[in-house]
Amino acid sequence: MGYAEGAAGARPQSKTTAKAGRGSMDRIRIVGGRRLNGVIPISGAKNATLPLMIASLLTEDTLILDNVPHLADVALLQRILGNHGVDVMIAGKRAGENGDHGRTLHISAKTIVDTTAPYELVSKMRASFWVVAPLVARMGEAKVSMPGGCAIGTRPVDLLIMALEKLGADIDIEAGYVIARAPHGLRGGEVVFPKVTVSGTHTALMAATLARGTTVIENAAREPEIGDVADCLNKMGARISGAGTSRIVVEGVSSLHGARHSVLPDRIETGTYAMAVAMAGGDVLLANARPELLQAALDVLARTGVAVTPTNEGIRVCRNGAALAPVEVTTAPFPGFPTDLQAQLMALMTRASGTSHITESIFENRFMHVQELVRLGAHIRLDGDTATIEGVARLKGAPVMATDLRASVSLVIAALAAEGETIVNRVYHLDRGFERLEEKLAACGAAIERVSD
Ligand code: EPU
Repeated sequence: MGYAEGAAGARPQSKTTAKAGRGSMDRIRIVGGRRLNGVIPISGAKNATLPLMIASLLTEDTLILDNVPHLADVALLQRILGNHGVDVMIAGKRAGENGDHGRTLHISAKTIVDTTAPYELVSKMRASFWVVAPLVARMGEAKVSMPGGCAIGTRPVDLLIMALEKLGADIDIEAGYVIARAPHGLRGGEVVFPKVTVSGTHTALMAATLARGTTVIENAAREPEIGDVADCLNKMGARISGAGTSRIVVEGVSSLHGARHSVLPDRIETGTYAMAVAMAGGDVLLANARPELLQAALDVLARTGVAVTPTNEGIRVCRNGAALAPVEVTTAPFPGFPTDLQAQLMALMTRASGTSHITESIFENRFMHVQELVRLGAHIRLDGDTATIEGVARLKGAPVMATDLRASVSLVIAALAAEGETIVNRVYHLDRGFERLEEKLAACGAAIERVSD
């Protein structure tokens, strides 16, 4: 993904504690072999927060979002929205002010001063392309840079454009920009996605809220983050039914109003820490986690022999020295096994007692972690979209780096069980999507710290 280092903050750093500030050149140092015991609080979901912030463009009133995670991607989107004239006020800004309950954002798009989203900003975060939908729906026009390729594949936007056209937008593509026009407003229509797409569904949903008449979205993505955005839009006065199923119906309304919404817990962060505990051994409560958001991943973990128990407070994950059984897994849209947990599962399977197969069916090039896991001593063979992982008795620490968020965190998981020291470089990828990662793991006994130059 074309992510700029500056977004993670370019302040010089000098401390080596877990509490040190975030710098783009920071590294994470891990000494493997410690079990994890305790409680890890799960933050609000990054992939719900981003479209929820973008949905603020649909109304002149203030949208209040609670349980917002403190992430570089959120800060970057705040800057991108600022370019359109959106004001964002953050409560709970100081460390400890809001405890583990995330931050509260007051977002006001009272006056849209600019309907252009320039290349310099959109190229830093793909999801910012989604502003095209609320801008054309509310303002009748939007000019948004195409996001371009990223580390995990080509990731086109053809289906987002198709959805906007079905709702009556005229689309031109000029000099790398998508120009969407609907001077007399969008109108409801039928959007049938040929493949499941989260970005396409968010786009169609947001655009349809202000379109005249009824929109039907067929083969819609069923990811929980879609349901969370639909819930929030309904609180803002939208009339959406069927979110969470593959057929969503939207009755357009003439305007939306302000609302208050709490972001749902991050299922990918939940699954990541569940795999970290499975890797390191120990007994951890993932507080605030909701099992129904990641049942497929929890089922896979249970098949490896890890004890996964839903409780009133969250999900308890426990592994006490027993061997890990190998698994066969193919990523799939929700409710299948998420592509965003594929790298983490692969890290775990490097220590299974036997051979696993993991097939990536969503993105064509999401295996950047493989070479780095091999540097730690893993035995992995790639054949097209399938990785064959032969479990090994030990991993050995090494300097590693990865070029995307989930790949980076898979290296952290591997390092927890590797002998000696692992240095994970390019920490800004982790800061994009994991709030206080090193603090959360250190609090459960991991030997992990942020190192700044
Ligand atoms: N696709 C098209 N044409 C389109 C749109 C998508 O061919 O117009 C393809 C993509 O190339 C991909 C597949 O459809 O092969 C699925 O893409 P989708 O639109 O579902 O993904 P996305 O919305 O771009 C979101 C998450 C990703 C997550 C995927 C799949 C956000 C901000 N991003 O991406 O999260 O992997 O859904 O669940 O919600 C991450 O958090 O690390 C991350 C990459």
